[in-house]
Amino acid sequence: MVAPLSNNTLQNIPGTIALAGAGKMGGAMLTGWLAGGLDASRVVVIDPQPSTEISALATKGVRLNPKDADHVDTLVVAVKPQSFRDAGAALKSLVAPSTLVVSIMAGTTIAALEEVCGGAVVRAMPNTPASIGRGITVAVAASNVSAAQRATADALLRATGAVEWVDDEGLIDAVTAVSGSGPAYVFLLAEELARAGVEAGLPEELATKLARATVAGSGELLHRSDLPAATLRQNVTSPGGTTAAALEVLMATDGLRPLMIRAIAAATKRSKELAK
Ligand SMILES: NC(=O)c1ccc[n+]([C@@H]2O[C@H](COP(=O)([O-])OP(=O)(O)OC[C@H]3O[C@@H](n4cnc5c(N)ncnc54)[C@H](OP(=O)(O)O)[C@@H]3O)[C@@H](O)[C@H]2O)c1
Repeated sequence: MVAPLSNNTLQNIPGTIALAGAGKMGGAMLTGWLAGGLDASRVVVIDPQPSTEISALATKGVRLNPKDADHVDTLVVAVKPQSFRDAGAALKSLVAPSTLVVSIMAGTTIAALEEVCGGAVVRAMPNTPASIGRGITVAVAASNVSAAQRATADALLRATGAVEWVDDEGLIDAVTAVSGSGPAYVFLLAEELARAGVEAGLPEELATKLARATVAGSGELLHRSDLPAATLRQNVTSPGGTTAAALEVLMATDGLRPLMIRAIAAATKRSKELAK
């Protein structure tokens, strides 16, 4: 794990920042940047069909699809991976050899980004809680990224939640499997907990409400606590009680552990297959 960075605030970021793709993720990042004090007049947004919320940011000084955009200091790429090759030619014109290129595209490698855009590339993998400022992003920098550029990337990514840095790009497939795709597993847990409640005799509406509040409340408890997840679990498990009875099933040798290992392995494998 790479050491955390210091002195990296949005206000310290030098020059112009272009955001290519202001959809769900790009839009969440832009909202975080502006809320964190980044000067809107330094932001250029490239998006062929911006939402009304994004278009409205023009009144705050954000430049939207300027015809005369020149090289920028930082380019953040948040288009869909399948749009990237098409978008590439237009994006390349924004990139000088010294431009920091931060990509959040799943499965798009540093080598592919260098080939299409050039510049000094940081590849990052966020997750959807970024939309409420509670995401976690893992980032990896190419060897030509300077310490100052890494600090810039860190500040831009941190606007939507926590950031971890790794120095092995090969880890990004497993990161994608754990935290990138992870919110879907948690939502599935809420769905299945509700379904099991209905099986146990609860009305569907009540079961859904209980499952949703339990997953959300437990997530918040985990977030606010310094204790490991295992300790929080043990704290609600009295010997011989109801929780212990359920955990005996979930923690059996054919329980959640081998299932989760298989699920993460499948997602990691798929991430490797999609990498380009
Ligand atoms: N959502 C996640 O959970 C998640 C997690 C980790 C990483 N990511 C990555 O984040 C990226 C964005 O995902 P998203 O969910 O935010 O997708 P999204 O909502 O579809 O956003 C992509 C945006 O890019 C725009 N766009 C398309 N072609 C473009 C071009 N040539 N130049 C500039 N903008 C263009 C799209 O416009 P149109 O809608 O008009 O096409 C859209 O506004 C993806 O690469 C994805 O792999 C997403």
